[in-house]
Amino acid sequence: MLSSSIIKQLIAIVGEERLLLGPEDFQNYGIDRTTIWQANPCAVVLPGSTEEVQQIVLLAKEFNLAIVPSGGRTGLSGGAVAKDGEIVIALDRLNEIREFNSLDRTVTVGAGVITERLQKFAIDQGLFYPVDFASTGSSQIGGNIATNAGGINVIRYGMTRQWVAGLTVVTGAGDILELNRGLMKNNTGYDFRHLFIGSEGTLGLICEATIQLTKAPEETVVMVLGIDNFPAILDVLQIFTSKIDLTAFEFFSQLALDKVVAHQGHAVPFNTKAPFYALLEFETKGSEGLDLAMRLFEHCVDQRWVLDGVVSQSLSQASALWKLREDISETLWEFQPYKNDISVRVSRMPDFLVEVNELIERHYPDFDIVWYGHIGDGNLHLNILKPEQLSSEDFVSQCSAVSNEIGQLLAKYEGSVSAEHGVGLLKRDYLHYSRSPCEISLMRAVKSAFDPNGILNPGKLFEAQGQ
Ligand code: MLT
Ligand code: ZN
Repeated sequence: MLSSSIIKQLIAIVGEERLLLGPEDFQNYGIDRTTIWQANPCAVVLPGSTEEVQQIVLLAKEFNLAIVPSGGRTGLSGGAVAKDGEIVIALDRLNEIREFNSLDRTVTVGAGVITERLQKFAIDQGLFYPVDFASTGSSQIGGNIATNAGGINVIRYGMTRQWVAGLTVVTGAGDILELNRGLMKNNTGYDFRHLFIGSEGTLGLICEATIQLTKAPEETVVMVLGIDNFPAILDVLQIFTSKIDLTAFEFFSQLALDKVVAHQGHAVPFNTKAPFYALLEFETKGSEGLDLAMRLFEHCVDQRWVLDGVVSQSLSQASALWKLREDISETLWEFQPYKNDISVRVSRMPDFLVEVNELIERHYPDFDIVWYGHIGDGNLHLNILKPEQLSSEDFVSQCSAVSNEIGQLLAKYEGSVSAEHGVGLLKRDYLHYSRSPCEISLMRAVKSAFDPNGILNPGKLFEAQGQ
């Protein structure tokens, strides 16, 4: 619990209505989408400016109080969970969009701007913000940057990192830094902007970002293909990417499709059942792109990689096909899924798949496993569904044991234990499978340079010092 003197000082910074101390607020702001940990902050504060964020950090530093930065709380790794009496700094009120520049194609936004609002703003300017994923309606730009969010367009447009031209941050020491200031070229030593992207709130609080926008793609179509077996997905990927610049190449299993259809009431793409489905999106370029895609589709059928397929004939059909993929995550929540978000280089995927599949079948013979993800980026989302009769604790502990084996396999394949969701609390014990001891100790040194008292998001990414 906070002392009355600290409460008074917080009120002096943000005002009485912006300091929340009720159990419902704690529940609401103290947790992300994970269900493993309980929310237990000591206060929630909603600053209205970078300077107010700075004052809160300086106060927390003086009294050695831990802080959890909070955006849209759509994270899947426990990065925004306040379970140990921390102060939650929610950035919702930093929601201004300003300084659009059509020549630079940049815009400056507050950390609390909802992703979808930025996407719409870009469209209104005749431009495009290409980072896209299912939770754009509630995720915030600051959180996207703190986790270097990926999503469905990475194969063409890269991760959030690629679109950040500048950042204003408050470090754990309470300094305000303006990083890169929107420059396209800037070779002046260490680029701290990139350190903050993906740092999961452990170095500082992201308050404002200058975002690079781009030209929108021409008209696109969506193709869903029923694939005969897992390795064939990669054959299809190879043949399509060698000829067409895809904007997306996603996959999901029959079980994923069954769940989405049953729970969301969506129509199946076609009547033929297939073990796996690939969803491709590409620009039509008149009819040229479409003709080429149809020829490639026929080749895939001749090779017996593809069993059936459909191409969208309208925008509404394209968006209906996208829903089959995008609604999987939401559909699975009621099964309390244990999420794996892993990646290897695409070229190593065929061999990796054989081994990971064998490992999964050995360890989870009776569990429902839902496979989906951004296979065009080498990124698999492997979701283990909790059997009803198993307690949550036993389920998590069984899955954690398997995560260790998956981690060892990833180390062998030089892959990543977290492709796009971030490490947070969920994957910190497996970080060493992807990063060397030397790298982890350098990460700790970087953290103490920016956050000398260790008050920012302690315990996320790696254990807090002294634990
Ligand atoms: C997705 O690809 O759907 C998201 O990363 C969310 C998830 O993995 O559940
Ligand atoms: Zn994903």
